[in-house]
Amino acid sequence: MAISFDKATKTFYLEGKSTTYAFFINKFGYAEHLYYGTKIGRDPLFYTRGKGGRSCAATVPGEKVDGFEEGSSYHYFPSELAFFGNGDFREPCVQVANEAGDRICELLYDSHEILPEKPRMKGMPSMRGGETLVLHLYDTVSDFGADLYYTVYPDCNVIARRVVYKNCSNKVIRLKRAYSFSMSLPTQSFELMSLHGAWGMERRIQKTHLHNGVVSIDSKRTTSSATLNPFIALLSPGTTEDSGEVYGVSLIYSSSYVLKAEGVNDGQTLLTGGINDFDFEWKLKADEEFETPEVAIAYSSEGIGGMSREYHDAYRNYLINPRFAKKSRPIVINNWEGTYMDFDNEKLMAIASAVKDTGIDTFVLDDGWFGARNTDEAGLGDWYVNTDKLKGGLKTVIDHVNSLGMSFGLWFEPEMINEDSDIYRAHPDYAIKAPGRLPCYTRNQFVMDITRADVRDYIINSVNKILDENNITYVKWDYNRNVTESYSLGLPADRQSEFAHRYALGLYDIFERIIETHPNVIFEGCAGGGARFDPSQLYYFPQIWTSDNSDADERTLIQYGTSIVYPLSSMTCHFSVVPNHQTGRVTDAKTRADIAHLGTTGYELDTSVFTEEDKELTKRQIAEYKEMESLILEGDLYRTDNPMESNYFGYTLVSKDKTHAELTCYQRMGRPNAQLKRFAPRGLAPEKKYYVPELNLILSGSTLMNVGLLPVFERGDFKTVKYHFEEK
Ligand code: DGJ
Repeated sequence: MAISFDKATKTFYLEGKSTTYAFFINKFGYAEHLYYGTKIGRDPLFYTRGKGGRSCAATVPGEKVDGFEEGSSYHYFPSELAFFGNGDFREPCVQVANEAGDRICELLYDSHEILPEKPRMKGMPSMRGGETLVLHLYDTVSDFGADLYYTVYPDCNVIARRVVYKNCSNKVIRLKRAYSFSMSLPTQSFELMSLHGAWGMERRIQKTHLHNGVVSIDSKRTTSSATLNPFIALLSPGTTEDSGEVYGVSLIYSSSYVLKAEGVNDGQTLLTGGINDFDFEWKLKADEEFETPEVAIAYSSEGIGGMSREYHDAYRNYLINPRFAKKSRPIVINNWEGTYMDFDNEKLMAIASAVKDTGIDTFVLDDGWFGARNTDEAGLGDWYVNTDKLKGGLKTVIDHVNSLGMSFGLWFEPEMINEDSDIYRAHPDYAIKAPGRLPCYTRNQFVMDITRADVRDYIINSVNKILDENNITYVKWDYNRNVTESYSLGLPADRQSEFAHRYALGLYDIFERIIETHPNVIFEGCAGGGARFDPSQLYYFPQIWTSDNSDADERTLIQYGTSIVYPLSSMTCHFSVVPNHQTGRVTDAKTRADIAHLGTTGYELDTSVFTEEDKELTKRQIAEYKEMESLILEGDLYRTDNPMESNYFGYTLVSKDKTHAELTCYQRMGRPNAQLKRFAPRGLAPEKKYYVPELNLILSGSTLMNVGLLPVFERGDFKTVKYHFEEK
């Protein structure tokens, strides 16, 4: 059993691959955190508790002992779930108001269960399986319960946590805040790392020192966003890519969220977060429950890289659809950068024909095939073929693609609607708008009100019809704007603040009813590039378009930042034309392929102009990719050189059994009198001998990792060199 309960000390021990998470129920019934870190014995840990000495602290309600008494104030208990109103002045995990207007909450131990397998969450994505502790806490005045779920996994150091809040009274309770977890750490000496960004420059690493008070990141966009990914990590002093203690928090959610780290006045840190309580309130009727999104908490003593590998394993093994997670992915030719919306049957068929027998196995038709979609001003929501453009419908193109031995994929942006569309003319109310207010436009489009069941049904029926009537094996699901004017005509006034969370629930319902009913179709996520790259999307989409920025140099930054949490197989990375459409930069075909090979690779350019030489090159690139694809799907990533901090980028990919590996070295600017820059692969077995074909040498892992390699970059900028390591 990975989870145990010591009755004598009322201590829970939760063990992951090499971690222990421990807390106990103290004499007041409070769930008090004891330890999270490297695996330890199941020993009593009370000696680690604070020894009072706090004047002016509020006592535990009703206890007349003063604040000097050991552990006598909720404020100073390291918390598993912090609540508000009775002496704890830290960030609460939950706040409720009962009918009397009482906003105080005292959630104390009631009972617990240990389940061999986590029950599936209702209506929300979450990690699968895993032994699970359910801790039942209860507030007897409001008749309000909180079930805390903790799931551990035998093969990774990630704990999945969430809370289910329950109104057990016969009156309405208003949830004003409903976060997913609290977790105390015994020190404040941390840097907080997060991933910020924007269109075309997603997931840049930023760090700040923790201090007394709250450091937080959030989204108010009704989506996770490119602005701040729903992820934070706490780094102990001196943490590097390879060493140091790191705690990661990754929220499996794609609406407005908040994640916080609070430096508390006793020197501890309290982590908390979940659904953003800004513009949130939820009316919980008698006997209703409220599920919060799951959060994946990782621990590593092997630095930032160690934490990333924990997330990569956890998400590949338990989050991403097992039908696809470790399976070879389609290699697509996508026509977006090749044609934008300016195409006809002939053009599309020529693009597909040009790559026959190169190894590209799927043609993906992007935006512009439906309704009156000739520009981005019209058509969204009209999910039927534009036969003026595609004479003979989709069928002609699909038949042609299939006759080449390739599969066919199609782009949708199901959540959106243009004013200039038949569906908007018939149902202007389908678009999100607030009565009496002018709406904001982004890319000339509105978001559909998917909090409404009838709108969801319209979307589901339209998309399913196209999928059912055509031989489609791949869908690219786009999302190009954020919600504004959050208001639903389907909700009463006192439920309007439920909008953002209901949007997420609506989205998951749509995903379930389209994606789950087409189990053999692979769905790729996208959001104007990578603006919705989050774990909740990965549950449905095994891969996500990482960024609209396909420039190889820019991609080193974007892919490096994305890999902090997300496995390489989840990032779609396309080879595109030069000068690059986003930056105007010219990079070598070799560099473009080498960088696009560090994810799920594909092509996005007008291949109808390919020469025989281009076709041969594509064939060679794909053959090379296929040789190392298993490293992308299942290998361990060791980042060696950070392009956000240097002129270089380095990745080692190592098979789990350490028998083969690959090192990609990249130099941004070529300089005269350049530095003799060594790249040291990591993650190899020190005692194993590896053949390095590029050097025609057999070297031991220890030599390779300690001495490093000295790549000779071709003259010029933006160059790559690759090395392979095969056990001998
Ligand atoms: C944004 C996506 O990121 C692009 O790849 C492309 O699909 C366009 N939308 C189409 O409108």
